[in-house]
Amino acid sequence: MKSTAVAHPNIAFIKYWGQANPNLNIPPNDSLSMTKEGIGYTKLNTYTTIEFLPDYTKDTASIQETEKLAVTEEKLADRKLERVLAVINPLREKAGVDYKFRMKSCNDFPTQAGLASSASGMAALAMAAADALDLKLTKEELSTYARLGSGSAARSIQGGIVHWHQGFDHKSSYAEQLVKPENVNINAIITVISNTQKKVTSDAGHKTAKSSIFNTMRIQQTRDDLEDALGAAKNDNFSLLGEKAEDSAMYMHCVMLTSKPKRLLYWEPATLSVIKTVLDLRQSDDLECYFSIDAGPNVHVFCRPDKIYELGEILCNIKGVQMTIPVKPAGDAYITDKHLF
Ligand code: PMV
Repeated sequence: MKSTAVAHPNIAFIKYWGQANPNLNIPPNDSLSMTKEGIGYTKLNTYTTIEFLPDYTKDTASIQETEKLAVTEEKLADRKLERVLAVINPLREKAGVDYKFRMKSCNDFPTQAGLASSASGMAALAMAAADALDLKLTKEELSTYARLGSGSAARSIQGGIVHWHQGFDHKSSYAEQLVKPENVNINAIITVISNTQKKVTSDAGHKTAKSSIFNTMRIQQTRDDLEDALGAAKNDNFSLLGEKAEDSAMYMHCVMLTSKPKRLLYWEPATLSVIKTVLDLRQSDDLECYFSIDAGPNVHVFCRPDKIYELGEILCNIKGVQMTIPVKPAGDAYITDKHLF
């Protein structure tokens, strides 16, 4: 009863922020994202191995980072272990198995630094666990279990452009593929401005959304923008999708910046430098690009695939940008026989 899955993170064009049901991670609105894979050295892969055995006396989980020269391994406890159990317990129950497990996960990129490692981590976990427990679930069903660990993980079960339906209960809040990766003509440069762990995780940040006076407005506007964004994604209308993506990121950061009692300010000075560069580049019709920012300082800049290297050269020279990661649309999460233990 051992299985390993590989999943990639995703970046949302249309964001979610806050929770309609915090226990089930049901969001306040539908969202739309692109699952992403590194084109260069950093591949953005999460590998997760899980094994259920009658011999194990307790549930254990750890995360290893391989990108650093010194390989580090963190044993998960408290809230982090709780989130793993939020995925595993319902799957164990569905399979009628009560064995304890050992889980190990490994990212080839920095964890919790705004690169959506929780999305790829929880997606790989749900897929590996369902396989180890011999549950035959559809990708949409798997997305509902990934969602229980981290909302955005629902969107990392499948590749290409993915639509997460808000829903109203466990079954109806699922993600499905809208455009296959081979039909997505979008790449992005991730400008890594800080790769240290963020101070307020998105898990904690969601709980503050309701305290902002802009929260209801963001939800309403996001719902209004969704149809346009879905149409733009299906019809390869990059300009419209890019515009909606920038709007969505800015609406979310408006809510974050006006949350009480403490503002959530994830940006660093270089975040603003990247935003200004993107706005300037758009003036010159030659390099059409759009930005998006998650719960961290790093900026994703979308462009057409033939502009990726030109854009990367410009962005990596901005003061405060430590590293750039070029990405393309990734495929679905998958099972592999390369176990981590
Ligand atoms: O699902 P979480 O807890 O990782 O929330 C992340 C939400 C954002 O990345 C900030 C927005 C989104 O829709 O991806």
